[in-house]
Amino acid sequence: MKGISKGIDDRIAEMAVVGLGYIGLPTAIMFANSGFNVIGYEIRKEVVDRINSGRAHIVEPEIDELLKKAVESGRLKATSNPEEIKNRDVYVICVQTPLNEDKTPNLSYLESAVKTVAKVMKKGSLVVIESTVPPLTTVKMARLIEDITGLKAGEDFYMVHAPERVMPGRIFKELVYNSRIFGGITPESAELAEKLYRAFVKGQTFKTSSTVSEVVKLMENTFRDVNIALANEFAHLAHQYGVNVFEAIDLANTHPRVNIHTPGIGVGGHCLPKDPHLLVWPAKDDFGLIRLAREINDGMPLLAKDLLFEALKTVNLPPERTVVAVLGLAYKGDSDDTRNSPAKAFVEAIEGDVKEVRTYDPFVEGTHGSVEDALKGTDAAVIATDHSEFRSLNWERIGSLMRTRILIDGRHVIKEPPEGFIFKGIGRGDC
Ligand SMILES: NC(=O)c1ccc[n+]([C@@H]2O[C@H](COP(=O)([O-])OP(=O)(O)OC[C@H]3O[C@@H](n4cnc5c(N)ncnc54)[C@H](O)[C@@H]3O)[C@@H](O)[C@H]2O)c1
Repeated sequence: MKGISKGIDDRIAEMAVVGLGYIGLPTAIMFANSGFNVIGYEIRKEVVDRINSGRAHIVEPEIDELLKKAVESGRLKATSNPEEIKNRDVYVICVQTPLNEDKTPNLSYLESAVKTVAKVMKKGSLVVIESTVPPLTTVKMARLIEDITGLKAGEDFYMVHAPERVMPGRIFKELVYNSRIFGGITPESAELAEKLYRAFVKGQTFKTSSTVSEVVKLMENTFRDVNIALANEFAHLAHQYGVNVFEAIDLANTHPRVNIHTPGIGVGGHCLPKDPHLLVWPAKDDFGLIRLAREINDGMPLLAKDLLFEALKTVNLPPERTVVAVLGLAYKGDSDDTRNSPAKAFVEAIEGDVKEVRTYDPFVEGTHGSVEDALKGTDAAVIATDHSEFRSLNWERIGSLMRTRILIDGRHVIKEPPEGFIFKGIGRGDC
């Protein structure tokens, strides 16, 4: 451990970050700008070319300046050639861990990344898995490396699960100030990883075993998913009682021990919709609450559809003659990330029933060029993402472009329904 530990202290440990997506690229940038020599290994050639030319392929505040700095300093370079990440001291794996169609974990990206690393690593390397994984996966991946290399985990190489907790839109702040967990397959492994990340982490750090760390990460996202499902169930109830659920939640949250989450059109992104499945997948028993929460959240686009169709009924407009514009395709505000987006699920849910669905998202390519362009001649606008732009729209002017003035708010973006519109919002009761 002495050699690698000193290399980390002196910032001369040579690093490879495997997978340069939403997590891997910012992580590689942070290590490079902290003084490490980093090679990013990524299988998508177009991503490699973009990064090497100093242009990020993802939307994130500060990323363009920070990437430029890292590339121009010569400390960050991307490659698709595994030979270029041979004999590195540290490998940080940040590949995606999605679900298969049947909601079982798809660990093929991780296994392939681990096999690549095993073929090029050396005795004494530290291998960090940042990807979110089902419990016991890090230990299994250590065995896979042992089988390929003949090295002994914990003796000849170090291995750690270091889950990522950042939120898109705040990644570069949270990478520095969030607290971090380092789950080692041995205490020494965790200690090394903690030392490494201290290069830029200013938040608290904690060391534990890899399996505890895997469970911690999955519990965090499951906690959020289940609590959002509860808020969504409250939203359904609020419609039955004619209550504005947001007013009710604000009042309930004045209780010192209550913190009800925010209901909406659904839960998306790469993490929340899958992490509860990763948590329960290896377990022997069925966990009803966690699975039911997933079903409730997955069903929310259908509540938005019901609200739209109720509004159409009030003006006797049959769905098959209706033109609908969906505002926002990303799963969260001011992001371009459309993975598992409830906005997309909503589009799919109405597509077969209405005459035409248009989409506008300022961050997503292939959608209309402006709100006005998307809404011209439509019968209904549906807000599906809470992009900042949608908070300050001039509805009077937009309304004058529409054929019928129906506005459905799936994200509680509209505080006061605009005059002259038939307005319905998720959780807004009868208002
Ligand atoms: N996105 C988030 O906000 C977030 C937050 C916390 C944790 N996580 C977790 O981090 C992990 C990565 O998520 P992401 O959003 O960055 O995914 P992503 O899809 O944006 O990035 C993964 C990258 O890895 C590349 N890749 C896949 N297989 C590879 C291989 N064998 N070798 C080299 N590159 C390979 C892909 O081409 C892609 O560019 C996931 O496990 C996720 O659950 C994500």
